[in-house]
Amino acid sequence: MDEKRKVPNLLIPREAFVFSQSQIGRMARENRKIINKRVHSLREMKGEKALPKGSKKLDIDQTREVFLNLFMDIKSDIKHKVHTFYNFKGGTGKTTICYQISTMLAFMGFKVLTIDCDPQAHLTSLLGIPEQEDYPTIYDVLVNMRALKEVTISVFNGLDIIPSSLSLTRIESPLNQMVRRENILLKMLQSEDSKTSQYDFIMIDTNPAFSVLNLNALMACQQLNVVCETHPLSLSGLSLMIEELQRVYKELQKDMNFVVIPNKYEAKTATSQEILGVLRKDYKQETIQTVIRKCEDINVSTKRRLPVLCFANKNSIAMEDIIDLGHEFIALSRGKPFVISGQEEAA
Ligand SMILES: Nc1ncnc2c1ncn2[C@@H]1O[C@H](COP(=O)(O)OP(=O)(O)OP(=O)(O)O)[C@@H](O)[C@H]1O
Ligand SMILES: [Mg+2]
Repeated sequence: MDEKRKVPNLLIPREAFVFSQSQIGRMARENRKIINKRVHSLREMKGEKALPKGSKKLDIDQTREVFLNLFMDIKSDIKHKVHTFYNFKGGTGKTTICYQISTMLAFMGFKVLTIDCDPQAHLTSLLGIPEQEDYPTIYDVLVNMRALKEVTISVFNGLDIIPSSLSLTRIESPLNQMVRRENILLKMLQSEDSKTSQYDFIMIDTNPAFSVLNLNALMACQQLNVVCETHPLSLSGLSLMIEELQRVYKELQKDMNFVVIPNKYEAKTATSQEILGVLRKDYKQETIQTVIRKCEDINVSTKRRLPVLCFANKNSIAMEDIIDLGHEFIALSRGKPFVISGQEEAA
């Protein structure tokens, strides 16, 4: 029996998540013909007829099946499974990146758990959980010690969420009084009862602050993803924040494994270029290769509560960047080098 709570009326119907074989090819960075063959042989294996001409869209389960077939070996090779998206500056794109990447990984056949640690509950809302529903949240896990599986909601097969709500604004005081208060989320994730071994990725979105709640997200992750705008003010805050994080990690005796994700890049502006140059110099090892450019499709995605991959046209720079980021994420999580799309031939 599925022990997860199913929310009967998610705001986004599953039917919104359908993909053409060309879209799957772009996501997989594979030739469309290869995808077509895989779809064909998978259907043959199950004794199903070939897809009739004109009905080329695959639903979420069929899409995941194609990817599972393509990425079978990769699934068992994920070393950094728990990711936290953090920056104490607001509005840098933490939730956006967490949302786009979590959904992409789930479309690609991975099993993903997202955890919303922000009282603003933006990730919860993006994933279609209706506001003001009386559901248990990460508060119940951290303060009331409820098992993760009891508060997990299934968004679609492959993507789950532990939601947030405004109740999280009241979490600091009870958390402060707990023993080893910074390691509660880590303990809950490691507990047998949580059944987290079923997930390939656990993606934690945070709120823009230094707080005990965020400290839990920082201590629970194997890779910290610092989402940074390519803006002068973001840069000056970044070095202070990284220094502070290094101090905290050292004090709590945990290695700090972090990457910097440059976001809202505007290729035409000298400032953006300059800031990216400084990031690449000051955080040479940590700044990832993919740069997420500023693109209206990302705002549209937020407004429609639909991942860019589900609606953007094939020339969308947001789509291109998210796919690159997804692949770089998988490579980083496996501890492998990464090659940006289109550069394979040149390399
Ligand atoms: N690459 C981008 N191009 C265009 N708009 C973007 C991009 N990334 C994020 N945004 C927009 O910036 C705004 C802030 O993004 P988001 O909510 O993800 O930031 P955040 O860091 O999670 O904010 P908070 O600190 O409040 O949690 C949103 O309106 C989002 O649509
Ligand atoms: Mg956010």
